[in-house]
Amino acid sequence: MKITIVCGEQEFYSAGAERIAAAIRTNPEAKIGLSTGRTTKGVHAALVKLCEEREIDCSRITVFGIDEITNMPRSCPASCYDLLLNQVVRPLRISEDRFLMPDPEAEDPLKECQEFERRVMENGGPDFIFLGLGENGHLGFNQPGTPFGRTAWLSWMDDSLDERLRRENGIPADVKMGGLTLGIKNLMQCPHLVLAANGSNKADSAAGMIEGPVTEALPASVLQLHPDCEVILDADAAQNLSRGVTG
Ligand code: GLP
Repeated sequence: MKITIVCGEQEFYSAGAERIAAAIRTNPEAKIGLSTGRTTKGVHAALVKLCEEREIDCSRITVFGIDEITNMPRSCPASCYDLLLNQVVRPLRISEDRFLMPDPEAEDPLKECQEFERRVMENGGPDFIFLGLGENGHLGFNQPGTPFGRTAWLSWMDDSLDERLRRENGIPADVKMGGLTLGIKNLMQCPHLVLAANGSNKADSAAGMIEGPVTEALPASVLQLHPDCEVILDADAAQNLSRGVTG
C-alpha cells in the first residue's frame, strides 16, 4: 500500500484527478471504475478541468460506477448514475454506451448484480478503480462484516448514510434503499486501485485501514493485501496515523 498525504483541498482533488488521468494516458481504451460521494465530486471536477487543459481524449474509455442505490430512479440527483453522468460522462464526452451502471429499479436485484458484474468483468475486467472510503470503513457498499470473498451483491446501507441521503434528497421513509455493489473480491481483482479520503470524519477508518489488522470488520483494511494500491489522504484524514502527517 502506497500512502500519499496531500495538504490543501485543491491539491488533494488534483492528486486524485492526476491518478485517473494517468490511467487514461496509459491505456486510452481503459475500463475505469469510479465512486460517488463528497470526496470524489471534487476529484471528478478536477479531472474534467485537467482533461480540458491537457486535451486528454476520453472518448474510448469505458467507465462504470462501483455501486448504486436501489429503489430510486436514475433521474434522482442522489443516484450514482445521475452523479457520474453529470460529473464525468457528459463533461468528458464519453458516449453513454461506454457507461456501465446497474439498473437501480431492476425487478430482480440479484440478477441485476450478476449481469452488472458480468459486464464489468468481461474483456479482462477493469484496468483501474478509484475508491472512496465510507466513514465506517466501507468500500463501495460493502459494509463492515462483508466477507472478503463476496462478488457483486445487494448490501444494506449504513444508518448514517441512509439518514444523510434521505435528508439531502427528500427521500421518503417508506422507500427502502439498498446498496447494489461490486463485491470486495471484484474490487481486489482489479490490477490498480487508488482510494482517496479527506476530512477528520475519515480519520479513524483511514488509520484502521492502513495500520490496523486486515479484518472484515473494516472492509477497507483488505487493501493492505492488494499488490498495487495507493491511498491518498488529506492531513485531516491522516491525523490518526501513528507515523504522523509528513506532507
Ligand atoms: C458511499 C459510496 C461509496 C463512497 C462513500 C464515500 O457510501 N457508496 O462508494 O466511497 O460513500 O462517500 P463520501 O466521499 O461522501 O464520504
